[in-house]
Amino acid sequence: MGFREDFTWGGASAAYQIEGATGEDGRGMSVWDMFCRQEGRIVDGSSGNVACDHYHRYKTDVDLMKKIGYKAYRFSIAWPRILPDGTGCVNERGVDFYDRLTDSLLEAGIVPYVTLFHWDYPYALFRRGGWMHPDSPKWFAAYVDVIARRLGDRIKHFFTLNEPQCFIGISCDTTEHAPGIHMPIWDTLLMAHHVLLGHGLAVQALRAAVPDAEVGIAPTCSAHYPASDSPADIAAARQAFFDIDPGRVFWSVSLWSDPIFRGVYPQKLLDLHEEHMPPIRQEDMRIISQPLDVLGQNIYNGQAVRATADGGYEFAPRPTGYPSTAAKWPVTPEALYWGPRFLFDAYKKPLYLTENGLSCHDVVSLDGKVHDPNRIDFLHRYLRELRRAADDGVDLRGYFHWCVTDNFEWAKGYTERFGMIYCDFETQERILKDSAYWYQEVIQTNGEDL
Ligand code: FCB
Repeated sequence: MGFREDFTWGGASAAYQIEGATGEDGRGMSVWDMFCRQEGRIVDGSSGNVACDHYHRYKTDVDLMKKIGYKAYRFSIAWPRILPDGTGCVNERGVDFYDRLTDSLLEAGIVPYVTLFHWDYPYALFRRGGWMHPDSPKWFAAYVDVIARRLGDRIKHFFTLNEPQCFIGISCDTTEHAPGIHMPIWDTLLMAHHVLLGHGLAVQALRAAVPDAEVGIAPTCSAHYPASDSPADIAAARQAFFDIDPGRVFWSVSLWSDPIFRGVYPQKLLDLHEEHMPPIRQEDMRIISQPLDVLGQNIYNGQAVRATADGGYEFAPRPTGYPSTAAKWPVTPEALYWGPRFLFDAYKKPLYLTENGLSCHDVVSLDGKVHDPNRIDFLHRYLRELRRAADDGVDLRGYFHWCVTDNFEWAKGYTERFGMIYCDFETQERILKDSAYWYQEVIQTNGEDL
C-alpha cells in the first residue's frame, strides 16, 4: 500500500518566523512585534524583524524548495501586511508580495497551501479587544475574504487557523506567547468561541469566493498513544487523546475539533465550565461547523498511555534517558501512527500532517556542510509510522515538514533550529542540510524505502 500516488510532500513555515521586513511596504504591527519589544519575553532578546529575510529572498527559497523536490509549500499570510489596521484599507504592497510568492511557487511547480492566520494578530485590533471583541469573528472573515478574492484564482488550498490551542492557551492563559497576558477562564473561553466563529465565517467567505478551494484548519495536539497493543490500552489512549484535562483546557483536541466537526462542545467542557462558558446561540454552532474538506493536524509528539483497573487511563512514565530533541521534546514516532488514526476514526476527514519536525544543534562543519543525522533518524522513524497509518486505511493526503529554513522560534528566538535548510542569520546564507537530500530521496520514491 504505502502513501497514495498523489501524496503531497512539502514543508511549512509561518510569516512572522521567516519574512522579516516588519516595517516595510506599509505592513501594520502585530502582537508579536510588540511582544518582542518587551524585555525578557524572548530568550535571546531577538525578534522577527529580519528573521530569514524571506520577504526579500523568497525567490532563493523557492529555488531551494524546488531543488529538494517539494510538491507543495505551506506558508502563512501576515494579516497586518494585508490590512495594516486589521480591518478596512487594503495595503496593495502587502498583497503584491503574496502575489509574487504565489506566482514563483506555481512557476516552480510547487502547490501553495496557505494558512490564513499563524499568530501574528494585528496590533490595532488587539487594542480594540482582539478576540474578546464581539466583532472579532467578522474581522477575521473580512480579512479572509480579501485573500480569497485576490489570491483565490491561484491558491486552492487553505487552512483557516494554525494551532488555536497555542494562540489562546499559551498566549492568554500561560502567557509565554504574545500578547502574553493572563486572562481568567471565562474570558479565554469567550475568545475561543470567537475564534471558532471566526473560523466558520472564514470558511463561508472562502466557499463564496473560491468554490473549488480545499478548506481545512490546522490545530495541534499531544498525540497520546497506547503503551501496548492491548485493546484496553488502545481504548485508554483514545480516551486520553480526546479528553479535557482540567488544568490544560486549551490544549485539548476536542475543545476545538468537536465544535467544528460535530457541531457541539464536548460535554466534559460544559460540565467543568458551565458557569464560565459564554452564551452560545443556536446559530453559532451551525456557523462553526461548516463542512470542511480536510483536517490539517500538527503533530510533534505524544505520551504513552495505559489502562487503569477502574476503566480510566494513566500516562506511562518515560524511561530514564529517553530520546529527546534539542528543544527537549520527546521523540515519540508512534504519535504519527496513532494521532492520525484516532483523528480519522473520530472525525472521518482526510488528513494532512501540516507540521512535524524537530530542532537539532545544527552547525556548519569543517567541510562546509550541515550534518544532521538526528533529524534524518527522527523523520525516518516518524514517517514510517505515518506510512503504517496509511497502510491501515487512514486517508492521508500529505505531509509538511516543519520547517523549510531555520527561523525565529517564537519565545525561543533563534536558539532552536528546525529547518531542513540551514540559515546563517548574520549573512543570510542558506545551506541544505543532509536531511534535505535525504528528504529529496523520500519524495522521489514516495516514501517507499522508508
Ligand atoms: C508549532 C508552531 C510553529 C513552530 C513549531 C515548532 O507549534 O505552529 O510555528 O513554532 O511549533
